[in-house]
Amino acid sequence: MLHALTSARLEFIVDDTSGSLEVVHLGSPVGRVDPTSFSAPIPEGGIDHLAPISVLAEAAAGWMGKPGLRLHRGGTVVFPRLDPSTVTSDGSSLRAVACDPATQVSVTILATLHDAGVLELVVELRNDGAPLTVDEVLVTVPVPHASEVLQFSGRWSDEFHPMRHPWEWGTFVVENRSGRTSATRFPLLMAGTAGFAEQTGTVTAIHLGWSGDGQVRADRLPDGRRILQAGEIFGAGEVVLDTGETHRSAPVFLAHSAEGLNGISDSFHRYVRARPTHVAAERPVILNTWEAVYFAHDLDSLSALADRAAAVGVERFVLDDGWFLGRNDDRRALGDWVVDPAKWPAGLDPLIAHVRGLGMEFGLWVEPEMISPDSELFRSHPDWALADPHHDPVRARHQLVLDLANPSAYEHIRQSLCSLLDDHDISYLKWDMNRDLVAPTDSTGRAGGRAQTLAAYRLIDEIRRAHPDIEIESCSSGGGRIDLGILARTDRVWTSDCNDALDRIRIQRGASYLIPPELMGAHIGPNRAHTTGRTHTIAFRGATAMFGHLGIEWNLLAATDDELAAVERIVSMHKAHRALLHGGRTVRIDVEDAAVSAFVVVDPDQDEAIVSVSQIATSRGLPVGPIRIPGLDLDGTYRLERLALDERRLGMAKQQPAWLEGVEISGRQLAVAGLPMPILNPETALLLHLRRR
Ligand code: GLA
Repeated sequence: MLHALTSARLEFIVDDTSGSLEVVHLGSPVGRVDPTSFSAPIPEGGIDHLAPISVLAEAAAGWMGKPGLRLHRGGTVVFPRLDPSTVTSDGSSLRAVACDPATQVSVTILATLHDAGVLELVVELRNDGAPLTVDEVLVTVPVPHASEVLQFSGRWSDEFHPMRHPWEWGTFVVENRSGRTSATRFPLLMAGTAGFAEQTGTVTAIHLGWSGDGQVRADRLPDGRRILQAGEIFGAGEVVLDTGETHRSAPVFLAHSAEGLNGISDSFHRYVRARPTHVAAERPVILNTWEAVYFAHDLDSLSALADRAAAVGVERFVLDDGWFLGRNDDRRALGDWVVDPAKWPAGLDPLIAHVRGLGMEFGLWVEPEMISPDSELFRSHPDWALADPHHDPVRARHQLVLDLANPSAYEHIRQSLCSLLDDHDISYLKWDMNRDLVAPTDSTGRAGGRAQTLAAYRLIDEIRRAHPDIEIESCSSGGGRIDLGILARTDRVWTSDCNDALDRIRIQRGASYLIPPELMGAHIGPNRAHTTGRTHTIAFRGATAMFGHLGIEWNLLAATDDELAAVERIVSMHKAHRALLHGGRTVRIDVEDAAVSAFVVVDPDQDEAIVSVSQIATSRGLPVGPIRIPGLDLDGTYRLERLALDERRLGMAKQQPAWLEGVEISGRQLAVAGLPMPILNPETALLLHLRRR
């Protein structure tokens, strides 16, 4: 029998008659179907049937690709046959159960099609026999029309580079073994029709909602069929199920679009926004102290910084790294979560009271999953480091990982965090995690990466339960832990340690394929970016940070009066448009000129929009454009006005377009003919506001 889960953009149809849960369609809705319409021919020369593309592709059914399950009992291979005995579905969720008495393994596949058009797949694997080692659990779906893949890679301070590859034959794999989500091997893969772009093409996206080791794969089978797969990567012997135990896989998320990449991100954004844990639409403007003062904390200067922050309109003041016992640089003290009496003789309360008195919330940086070898904690508990007992552990940023699967270590850190929150008026934690896991093993030598990620989740969940009003930011050396698993329990990500507006345009664009702007920390940094040395105007920095969860990461005590006035203007402009910026639909625009990056944020009713056009390099041809602006009501008429962040001067030109002084224009003209662009200097941005008449 066929079972269909259907939403406006994505339909998922499975057939349970072939002896497995076969995915016969994942794509745009197809309407009424006849079961025979999915039957395919069986070519000569191979096995006597076509191994189905099942959610858990079965080696024992003749599947020649990577199987969905790899299992053994003490070296004896276990090949369960997963013929579903019951499949129940209500049109938006499906539950299929398959029990294999021969191997004493049973499987439950849970498929949920969220209203947003995002399909979530979870596998539960139960063992009723002797201890069962689970080497791999991978879900598989077909992408019959794809011939190009797009992955996102990068590194610290340079996250989210889109990387596109032709995919004719063979396997394309993104394998992450860093113990965190990773900026380098980001667990999102898109596969689409040739030349798919922001506004055109048929694309399917697969994402692993997990903050540890994992893989996303695109495989073209020897028989020509194309599939996507995703699942965790386990360490050797890491998942062993005793009799009666169940393993639950990390969720795999899928989105599909026949309208290019914008349809993919639109589905992901809608899904994230509909989650019950999602934050309120208008995010408070932050000041983060990291690049302002680094480890140099003292009450007087931080109070003065708070004064300046409040004066320019900041709503949340976040004290970054440097506040705890002896933390004068990044070589020590992780684990000693007590306020440093040398820097803070009266504790943090005087600063917190000052910040609160100015009407701002107070936030604090922590890195609970780590331990410095030079710390009181390590001196008392050297066995609490998550490290291979036989070799010297590899350090990263001079630190080791705290073994959170060790109940004593976990309890210690939980209590430390709870006391911090009980004893202080803290409404926000910037929760950092600054290193890759290297051969993570506990003190008995067992692989411990997965347990570490699960324990970190549990710790965050417990802290949130104990302090329901707290908000948490997920930071991991910038954007090293951004995924739908961590985002089920956190409220913002630190997108990148790079505050260089030019790089940020690309980084934020890359992050926008998965997450909506209100979750994306975006800060106005100092004139000269610390991580690149580049200098940008405040207008350009502001125009870039404006489109995320806005913050300031700059020592405002060193800013001139003019600069402070400009920051204040940017903050108040952001607040004036915040509901739109944090609740609207982001539509990235395909621009032929690679020197220009453009997108528009449109409110759900298409009454209002803000267009951002950034000149990221010098264009070879001038003038640029016209640029066509999608996403608006084609039959609507809009009043278009430029939003000027500081001076009104643009690039050098004898004359700029007359429409810059304000114009009334139809959504159709904007979408079809577009707007000729003014001449812009490189590393400047143009913002346009549109309101429906
Ligand atoms: C990481 C974060 C930064 C900052 C520092 C503090 O690098 O990404 O934003 O918090 O740690 O040590």
